[in-house]
Amino acid sequence: MKQREQWATKMGLILAIVGNAIGLGNFLRFPVQAAENGGGAFMIPYFIALLLLGIPLLWVELSIGRMGGRHRHGSTPGIFALLWSHPAAKYLGVLGLFIPLVINIYYVYVGSWTLAFSFFSLTGKYFGAETREAMGAFLRGFQGVEFNQYFSSLSPAYLFFLVTFGLNIWILWHGIVKGIERLAKIAMPMLFLFAILLVIRVLTFGTPDPTYPDRSISAGLGFIWNPNFKELGNISVWLAAAGQIFFTLSVGLGAIVTYASYMREKEDVALSGLATGSLNEFAEVILGGTLAIPAAVAFFGLVQAREIAAGGAFDLGFQAMPVIFQKIPLGEIAGTLWFLLLFFAAITSSVSMAQPILAFLQDEFSWSRRRSVVVFGVVWFILAQPIIFLLPHGFLDEFDFWAGTLAPVCLAFVEVVLFAWVFGMVKGWKEMNKGAAIHVPKIFYFILKFVTPVYIGTILVIWFYQKFWDNLMLVGVSKEDFPFVIAARLTLTAIFLALLVMIYYAWRRKKERT
Ligand code: ALA
Repeated sequence: MKQREQWATKMGLILAIVGNAIGLGNFLRFPVQAAENGGGAFMIPYFIALLLLGIPLLWVELSIGRMGGRHRHGSTPGIFALLWSHPAAKYLGVLGLFIPLVINIYYVYVGSWTLAFSFFSLTGKYFGAETREAMGAFLRGFQGVEFNQYFSSLSPAYLFFLVTFGLNIWILWHGIVKGIERLAKIAMPMLFLFAILLVIRVLTFGTPDPTYPDRSISAGLGFIWNPNFKELGNISVWLAAAGQIFFTLSVGLGAIVTYASYMREKEDVALSGLATGSLNEFAEVILGGTLAIPAAVAFFGLVQAREIAAGGAFDLGFQAMPVIFQKIPLGEIAGTLWFLLLFFAAITSSVSMAQPILAFLQDEFSWSRRRSVVVFGVVWFILAQPIIFLLPHGFLDEFDFWAGTLAPVCLAFVEVVLFAWVFGMVKGWKEMNKGAAIHVPKIFYFILKFVTPVYIGTILVIWFYQKFWDNLMLVGVSKEDFPFVIAARLTLTAIFLALLVMIYYAWRRKKERT
């Protein structure tokens, strides 16, 4: 039997997992979440979630992924079947295919905007759209929400989508070592370099307009870091913090387990988990926290910065930032760096979210890598079309809600219960510490067994109670968007069912062969 692929170097492995984790979440989602949820006070539930959910789950995912790889399983259906010898186990693993597939359907499109905007920065295309309103019109024109003096068709957006999509396919086609590992070795150092250069630039903004002495970079840092402790009594701040930890570390997305399945049998997971978690947090809290929001406060003042944050990650990244680039010397260069930074962050994450399905096809159906890439590529391409053409009707939001917000918490819950209670903590702990380069503190044995499952379970219960019903019942959805949201849900249901059927056939096929 052909040997399964393995990471070529330790450095490549770490960079690939860091690339998997560091994404748009670090530079766009995090600052908005922090600004919206109590500023510095957000960091308290955030770090608690990191310690009690994020890092333990990273260890679990790396351990079960590495164990899966040993048995030629690189995705959750096969891995869950190893943890629990019950016929239902593999079906629970459907989440680890559904989540990365669905997220990727829109993630790669948003990634293509970052490439487009780095091109627009370099060529100065949006220069002249100097206000937030004008830049908003530029963005809406580009996205096809409305056509205007900036864009009269979706062609530019579609072209950049094709390029980004093609790049993803090209990298995946070359496999783990020659594709993903090579990408990580180039993209990650560049990402850190660009981010550090931009942080230095932002920190030297001072008070850009002396007529507004309150609009300064120190006011911006104060806005994001001064704690508003009143917010801690608000349960949604705790949910937001936990949600951000899942999204940013890529835990509960199915992507880390797959990367871990290409580790060697005795490759350390303990230190690797801690190192990748720490690098991700450095990129998120230190770099991501210093860039967009403080810059927005320095140029627009507190009131407008709040408005921008409330408008969401896209307003911050694609509307407010380009206005700022037009106000500073060499703004074309700063803008290019900012959007390229986002592009590197996005592409290293999007390939990681494509890999679980590819691993599933290769491991469970014995398909070749290239065949898997072609077949999956066609499906991925087709599914991306409604996101592109129906963006104004809430397709993206619907996909993001189910696959990017709710399902990861469910998958993480299943994972930790299977690991700590079904497989058992004694065996699990042994697996986690195999080849470990550091000693995982014993307290995590208890955290994993009791605290993490109860924490995630509580989030799920509160969350169902607070939001699920309204979302299910389409509260707040306009009449015009109603049919589109229903269509999005039908698409999601069809994807989910198709994946379940594939799992069924994969196992039936295996049974027939033995
Ligand atoms: N972890 C990835 C991000 O932060 C998905 O964007």
